[in-house]
Amino acid sequence: MARIFGRFIMEATHNPCLRASFIRQVIEERHPQRQKINKFEQRIVLLPKKSKNGGSMITIDFSGKNALITGGTRGIGLATALLFGRAGARTWLTYKWGQDDYSALYAAFLEAGAPKPVLMQADVSVDEDTSKLMAEMAEQGAEGVDFFISNVGFAQRTMNLNEYKKRSLFKTLEYSTWPLISYSQAIRKTFGAYPRRIIGISSDGPSHFYRGYDFVAASKALLEHFARYMSIHLFEEGCRVNVIRFGSVKTESFSAIFGEAFFDYLRANGIPEEMLLSPEECAQAVFALASGFMDAINGQIITVDKGMPFRDNLMMRYQESREEQG
Ligand SMILES: NC(=O)c1ccc[n+]([C@@H]2O[C@H](COP(=O)([O-])OP(=O)(O)OC[C@H]3O[C@@H](n4cnc5c(N)ncnc54)[C@H](OP(=O)(O)O)[C@@H]3O)[C@@H](O)[C@H]2O)c1
Repeated sequence: MARIFGRFIMEATHNPCLRASFIRQVIEERHPQRQKINKFEQRIVLLPKKSKNGGSMITIDFSGKNALITGGTRGIGLATALLFGRAGARTWLTYKWGQDDYSALYAAFLEAGAPKPVLMQADVSVDEDTSKLMAEMAEQGAEGVDFFISNVGFAQRTMNLNEYKKRSLFKTLEYSTWPLISYSQAIRKTFGAYPRRIIGISSDGPSHFYRGYDFVAASKALLEHFARYMSIHLFEEGCRVNVIRFGSVKTESFSAIFGEAFFDYLRANGIPEEMLLSPEECAQAVFALASGFMDAINGQIITVDKGMPFRDNLMMRYQESREEQG
């Protein structure tokens, strides 16, 4: 009997119709007051198989879903794409400059058991590129975008007030802020619906002083502001719009800019390197927010930083230097 039930579960999770009715049955049993299940819940596969501690196991299935990630070929964007791909989503990854060889990227998707991603050259700041991207997605069979991750950030560095230029600020906003809006609009125009989950990628720039980061901070602050407004404008369409503020992330570009010396400095100051985020940890946060389990979260700016800035402060550094001096 147990074996037959087990086989039914396997079939139910692979056959979309069976799966929907099976999940409906599980939800009705557990929550009899619920009238219907939504499309997203149909994708969350509840297996009534007992885990080691006796609870039900839950997996997330994004097969048949499309995830569009700007700047998805490296760093946080790529790690996010891999995770969405592992859950079965078809991923569409944009870049501006491109690399000579993407074989390692494709191999990573293959190894993860993810559908082959579609890589597309589209500068986020150029409207014509956005229109072309949408047309190509439609041509290649996408019927919509379920997850839109506005990930590209690029800013003019300004070391003092003399270096502030209106034109550079506007350029920074075109790269780092406006795509959250322009891509959402273009997706709606092309596919008739906004993405169900829109996530902007921010940093702790708006709440910290970093030398040269004036315009980065401005663009992230404005990104966060518009995400909050969008979350209300789009709520009735079933969308959720949020922003994740990451602390320092050890990406290739980060290591290239700061080098190993930065990590030596961290260790010398008693801060373990693990307190920095990895792109994979960032990806997990994005994935969790998009999973459907966090749909009560809307219009929020969520900080993901392992608590590092809380621990790292002037008084701590002073006390530690006193202790070192004995
Ligand atoms: N790294 C950190 O410490 C950190 C911390 C907090 C927040 N963040 C935020 O996280 C996001 C991603 O950062 P990251 O460090 O992961 O970036 P990254 O490793 O430098 O990767 C950037 C990606 O964006 C693409 N790209 C660059 N300019 C583009 C454009 N105009 N149009 C389309 N694609 C473009 C790049 O491809 P091509 O080069 O081939 O064009 C690449 O795929 C940014 O918004 C950043 O502000 C980063």
